[in-house]
Amino acid sequence: MDSNYPGFLIVLEGLDGSGTTTQSGLLARYLREEGYSVVELEEPGGTELGRQVREILLEDRGVGIEPLSELFLYEVSRAQMVREKVIPGLKKGKVIISDRFAVSSVAYQGYGRGIPIDRVKSLNEIAVGGLEPDITFYLDIDLHEREKRSAGKRPDRIEKEKQDFYRRVREGYLAEIKALSDSVLIDGSSSKKEVSRKIIERVEEEIVDPG
Ligand SMILES: Nc1ncnc2c1ncn2[C@@H]1O[C@H](COP(=O)(O)OP(=O)(O)O)[C@@H](O)[C@H]1O
Ligand SMILES: [Mg+2]
Repeated sequence: MDSNYPGFLIVLEGLDGSGTTTQSGLLARYLREEGYSVVELEEPGGTELGRQVREILLEDRGVGIEPLSELFLYEVSRAQMVREKVIPGLKKGKVIISDRFAVSSVAYQGYGRGIPIDRVKSLNEIAVGGLEPDITFYLDIDLHEREKRSAGKRPDRIEKEKQDFYRRVREGYLAEIKALSDSVLIDGSSSKKEVSRKIIERVEEEIVDPG
């Protein structure tokens, strides 16, 4: 366990459509059945303030949002969630599952939007205050699979971005995940069940009974 808290922090990362929300739900259900006390969070969101920020970020109301402003908004949501939900939960020994976390900003606002990577990381550091996930899963899908899964769905403000944006985000994810300790790359294009099985297998290996 990385943090000095009795709980366990699991992060799911990936392109939109990679299955982070699906897998967060499946993992939470499994762990609850195993008797763990689980908190499911998402970014942006996870708190009331975060949900309000999420609306600004994802609803396309035609309001101009500069890349740097976008980054700050994500950090607002993150800073609030870490202090209001993540740390208190970890102190109580809960298993926290976060659908996206700091690496998302490196991939999307850094590699995707072009903000210098070290700047994104400095702001992440301020927002999370040194907290590191115990394990980060990156669900890798290619751009074709992403397009397929988003077909027929109303895209949010970020999802309206072009293939080229997502190509940079994926490259960013692949580079960052390789360099990140306690990270696991999973082929997100296999079936939901298969992805879930791989995640659960790894969590079972890593988790220290927080009860
Ligand atoms: N492994 C998978 N195989 C096929 N379709 C999937 C898989 N995982 C998720 N999906 C589908 O892809 C879409 C996006 O999944 P979702 O979990 O919302 O992704 P994300 O939260 O990463 O954007 C949903 O329609 C979901 O049912
Ligand atoms: Mg999702």
